[in-house]
Amino acid sequence: MTATITAAPLLAAYRGQPTSRRPVWFMRQAGRSLPEYRAVREGTAMLDACLNPELAAEITCQPVRRHDVDAAIFFSDIVVPLRLAGVAVEIVPGIGPVLDAPVRTAADVAALPELDPVALAPVRDGVAASVAQLGGVPLIGFAGAPFTLASYLVEGRPDRELPATRALLATDPPTWHRLLAWVGRLTSTFLRAQVEAGAVAVQLFDSWVGRLSPAEYRASVQPHSTAVFTAVADLDVPRVHFGTATRDLLPDLLAAGADVVGVASDIGLDEASALLGGRVPLQGNLDPAVLAADWATLEAAARDVVRRGAAAPGHVFNLGHGVPPDTDPDVLTRLVDLVHSIPPEQES
Ligand code: CP3
Repeated sequence: MTATITAAPLLAAYRGQPTSRRPVWFMRQAGRSLPEYRAVREGTAMLDACLNPELAAEITCQPVRRHDVDAAIFFSDIVVPLRLAGVAVEIVPGIGPVLDAPVRTAADVAALPELDPVALAPVRDGVAASVAQLGGVPLIGFAGAPFTLASYLVEGRPDRELPATRALLATDPPTWHRLLAWVGRLTSTFLRAQVEAGAVAVQLFDSWVGRLSPAEYRASVQPHSTAVFTAVADLDVPRVHFGTATRDLLPDLLAAGADVVGVASDIGLDEASALLGGRVPLQGNLDPAVLAADWATLEAAARDVVRRGAAAPGHVFNLGHGVPPDTDPDVLTRLVDLVHSIPPEQES
């Protein structure tokens, strides 16, 4: 890692250290809200774009050039390692990941192929090409957490209620645990490849984990997320753990092995920080819906996030979930300028 990257505001905030400016980036910043993204994606299927190193690097860098955000996140998807392991999956526009055959039985799980790290060459090449163009702006690697990725495997297509996932968890624990252990190995391999190729932080997305009670989480999910964090511990990069509707789960998400907790918009960062003992750097959590509001409303909401975030030992400004596709990109640029312009003394 170069000295410039080590001193980057993003990494300082992730370590709970003072920063030269308040770092900000957006989940799903690389994507459909940008006309230059739609232009380069024209005629290329989502997963083919992810596996084209030059294209993935170009899309990764687009939001950094346009918005002056403090981090890039590698353009990929949580289902990319499934595809590279040989699972038949497609990302259908407007729907999301769809599998040829859902994974629901002990036999289905036993038939899942192990991911050969060699197959990750397009990911390594895409990360390396991104880092080469980023000129010192840190690149975040990411993966789907075992529960959220398993939910796509079990449902076969997006379903917010997760009926088949919850049924498998409740009725066949041995198969459930074998499935999550398989996903955990897959996700660990995917994350390691990104860091080895130049990513300087990682984020584990457990987007739908808020569906579980704390007791369910601890018994059925947490050991597998811990295995992922442990598998990348030797790489010594900050590990961010993100989920939505996690008010009751925050201490467990931290205890899974994270260094930083990504908070959705259902709870204030000051309250989240208190629930975590006031000692954990946080990332978040402007409600993405506010991006469509008038500027005065958006500015007030952003200042409120900054004020509450000051309760934590480090704060990386972000949304509570991904950028909605219909967001005006100029609003994101203006928001980045605003976040950078708020001096530390106005935080409390
Ligand atoms: O954040 C970034 O800019 C980096 C890229 C990124 C994508 N997916 C690209 C993408 C990241 C970090 C993800 C993570 C991801 N993928 C998650 C976890 C984060 C979250 O949103 O909760 C999940 C659950 C997925 C699965 C997935 N992939 C969904 C639900 C969808 C949306 C389908 C749709 O069309 O509404 C996708 C597709 C996807 N992943 C797009 C992008 C840019 C849209 C593809 C397109 O351009 O058509």
